[in-house]
Amino acid sequence: MPCIKLEPLGITINVSAKNRLWRSLKHAKVDMPATCGGQGTCGTCALRVFEGGSNLSAMQTLEQVTLKNIRKDLSLYRLTCQASVLKDGVVFYLDNKADKKLAQIFARLKNRLAPRNIYHPLTGELLVQEGKLITQETLERLLSDC
Ligand code: FES
Repeated sequence: MPCIKLEPLGITINVSAKNRLWRSLKHAKVDMPATCGGQGTCGTCALRVFEGGSNLSAMQTLEQVTLKNIRKDLSLYRLTCQASVLKDGVVFYLDNKADKKLAQIFARLKNRLAPRNIYHPLTGELLVQEGKLITQETLERLLSDC
C-alpha cells in the first residue's frame, strides 16, 4: 500500500493504489472539497504535486480539460478524484492561498499535538513547534494571512 505525504503539515497517509486518491483521503478523514461529487468536472479537489508526480496514474483527457478550465498548471496539479497513487514518494503541498484546504485541515487538527514543526506556507513563519498543541489562535493567524 503506497503512502503519500501532505506538506507543510508533514502528515503521511497510506492510500490504496486501487482507489482514486480522493477516496483514500476521505477514508483518512481528510475531506477534500468535491463540488461535482468526484466526477472530474469541477476542479475543487485539485492538489498541487510537490514531488513524485510520476508515481501517480496517467492523466486522462477529462482531468486535463478540467484543470485547464480552472486555470491550473497541468504539470503541477492533479485532481484527487481522478488520480491514483501507484507508488510511494508522492508529496502534495496544501496551498491555502488557493483554496484554504490547509485551514480546513488545521481546523481538524486543532487541539492535537503537532507531528512536527509546522510553518506558514506563504511566510515561512513557524506556527507550531513539534509536540506543541495546535490551537485556535494558530488557526486564526493562518486564516488572517490568507
Ligand atoms: S471532485 Fe470535482 S473534479 Fe474532483
